[in-house]
Amino acid sequence: MDPTAFPSHLWPVSARIQRGQLYLGSHNLVELANQWGTPLYIYDAATFDDAIGAYRRGLRAWPGEKRVAYAAKAWFNLPFAQVLRNRGLDLDLVSEGELGIARAAGYPPGRVHLHGNNKIATLLKMAIDWGIGSVAVDNLHELSLLEELARTDCQVPDLWLRLNPHLLAPTHPYRQTGHAGSKFGLNREEAMGAALRIHHHPHLHLTGLHTHIGSQIFDLEAMLQAIDELIKLATALRAEGLKPIQFLCPGGGLGVPYHPHDPHLDLAQAVDRIASHGADVWAKHTKEPPPTLVLEPGRSLVARAGIALYRIGAIRHLQDGTRIAATDGSMADNPRPALYGARYSACLPRHPLSPPSGPVRIVGPLCESGDFLIESVDLPEFEAGDIIAIPVAGAYQLSMASNFNATLLPPVYWLEDNKWHCFQRRQTLSDLIQRDVALTERRRSSIKCLAV
Ligand code: LLP
Repeated sequence: MDPTAFPSHLWPVSARIQRGQLYLGSHNLVELANQWGTPLYIYDAATFDDAIGAYRRGLRAWPGEKRVAYAAKAWFNLPFAQVLRNRGLDLDLVSEGELGIARAAGYPPGRVHLHGNNKIATLLKMAIDWGIGSVAVDNLHELSLLEELARTDCQVPDLWLRLNPHLLAPTHPYRQTGHAGSKFGLNREEAMGAALRIHHHPHLHLTGLHTHIGSQIFDLEAMLQAIDELIKLATALRAEGLKPIQFLCPGGGLGVPYHPHDPHLDLAQAVDRIASHGADVWAKHTKEPPPTLVLEPGRSLVARAGIALYRIGAIRHLQDGTRIAATDGSMADNPRPALYGARYSACLPRHPLSPPSGPVRIVGPLCESGDFLIESVDLPEFEAGDIIAIPVAGAYQLSMASNFNATLLPPVYWLEDNKWHCFQRRQTLSDLIQRDVALTERRRSSIKCLAV
């Protein structure tokens, strides 16, 4: 197959073209869309497992223990938490909702790490009561809350410190989290002070150092510098007489291609580069045994595993030759183009290899012009009713989806060993109004009526 005609690195590893049509395993994508309706999200377990394998291979370069902690913000729900548990991954969570899902999935709490820049006391208490493995302290206010909780009857879990290394990650500004102006993390001076406070507290224990400088990063230089800063801090803390840290976590952030023209990292090689750099710098700074290296990927584990399927409806031909195809998918299930100008590609699974007939803008049905999925993509001839497939749909789409215009969220199916598992059914109208508290007849009559 001509790789320019079908960029297979953007599609799940189980995707194939058979008799001129696109399949996932032995399943024809158009038939799946007809059977389950659109918009539809499908995930390929083999692609997810491939990515886990790449992380495990790359991490061999680290001389100590290692762990992969999945960043749940990329995509999370109850059945997927059960999958993650079966795959033996740690979890990075940030909210009561994420904690609740993990707890409902029976996740071992000791393998869970709590992050976030404004962990309120009820969230901390919930995490502590559950027996969470670690809390990454993001700021001094949060440290005071933890000291307060430790004064009462709480058994406070191991603490990590999130360092803000003042480094600018080469990515979209909304995804930069490690620079001086960022809302995340402690600067070096604050981190030293926080470490000493924890050290002198009778019930608190510092076990790890953490940082995360951003997401969708292809040039690893700043990430490697962030590791240097973590290791320098670890040695400075030793010099102050603190115990050796047990966990070193430089976060997640490895980039994935969404479009044929995007750069493409070899995942295992990128992880190997991070792990070998960390190992060299550790050995240069200290003779002590290396701590457990924890990597915290989200996107690079799930993005490529997901495909979004939509049905084309209205087609518009503008005077300047532009074609606009409206689909039933929208910024409600994928806000990334509107938020970050994210660039996607697409194909028509009915005939993915047919020659393109010119550029098309793919839009949704919602009430604003920011509601587009692809600014411009070359597609073969299509007509109303055709299915369009967008690859690399597995991360930060459904987890950031909304009910704008009271749009119902799509169902999600997971393909493992050529068998489908429904992970989420389509949202229904009754789901949509479940939280609404209708006014009783008596209350309704006490609410103003205006003649228009
Ligand atoms: N660790 C922490 C503390 C994080 O905040 C994040 C992502 C990760 C790990 C995982 O990063 P990843 O491996 O997925 O790049 N909504 C944006 C991405 C926001 C990332 C937020 N934090 C997008 O759609 O591009």
